[in-house]
Amino acid sequence: MESLQSDEVDRAAECLVRAHHVIALTGAGLSVESGIPPFRGPGGIWTRYGEPPMDGYQRFLEDPRAAWEERLNPSGPMRELWETLAAARPNPGHLALVELEDIGILRCTITQNVDDLHRLAGSRALLEIHGNATLIRCIQCVARFPRSAIDFASLPPRCPTCDGILKSDTVAFGEPIPPDVLGRCFEEAELADCMIVAGTSATVYPAAQFPNTIQERGGDLVEVNPYETELTALCQHTLRGTAAELLPQIVERVKTLRVGL
Ligand code: APR
Repeated sequence: MESLQSDEVDRAAECLVRAHHVIALTGAGLSVESGIPPFRGPGGIWTRYGEPPMDGYQRFLEDPRAAWEERLNPSGPMRELWETLAAARPNPGHLALVELEDIGILRCTITQNVDDLHRLAGSRALLEIHGNATLIRCIQCVARFPRSAIDFASLPPRCPTCDGILKSDTVAFGEPIPPDVLGRCFEEAELADCMIVAGTSATVYPAAQFPNTIQERGGDLVEVNPYETELTALCQHTLRGTAAELLPQIVERVKTLRVGL
């Protein structure tokens, strides 16, 4: 088994070096080794507590003050989630993607994670399609602010730029993805001929559309996941294991290959 996986790491690395425009799609699995549980599958938050209501955004619009009171004083699973996020630090999986970016192989990382760990690890070409839990966004002008820049004395807080209502930057269920980020994600998916798909069940759209778009255009998919997903059958390379374990191995092989070029 070991040698088979090692061969697959080699082939995945060759695929990345051969490609012209490599991007990555990451999900909750990438942050499991940073202490943040996934949403689905074994130990998943939704698995344990059930999926949240799909109309989270409508509820926010109906009563933004109540939504903010709940956000500032969370309880139950959401309290657990925000506490683990606040304590989490990047792991070798995050750092491996930064290294791939530094050596010019990885052009962009699209993450579904709101945990800020890619940014903390040093990713620069980063698109946070579901937002970032440390940021606040205006639902009118889409301006984003660090939490520290916002006064929560009166709720809902208002946008310093346009006086619009402010919301956490994290995208709620039922909320449209902010057009600036979504547009960039589709651009990158159109440019890419190879995608690393790490730590995602690839079941939530529009993010799950990107690997399909790349595969339909003849591009390659490299999956890193301990378990099979909806995407596995479409992938040219499938690496069974954790992101923190396998992504650094891929980077080492890529660097060795590049030296030999
Ligand atoms: N390394 C790599 N992958 C892992 C690891 C690990 N250590 N542990 C678990 N996984 C895999 C699981 O097998 C699963 O396929 O990560 C995936 C996590 O899937 P989900 O929990 O469904 O998370 P994600 O795909 O990011 O969910 C998408 O759904 O609930 C919404 O907004 C939320 O952004 C989230 C979106």
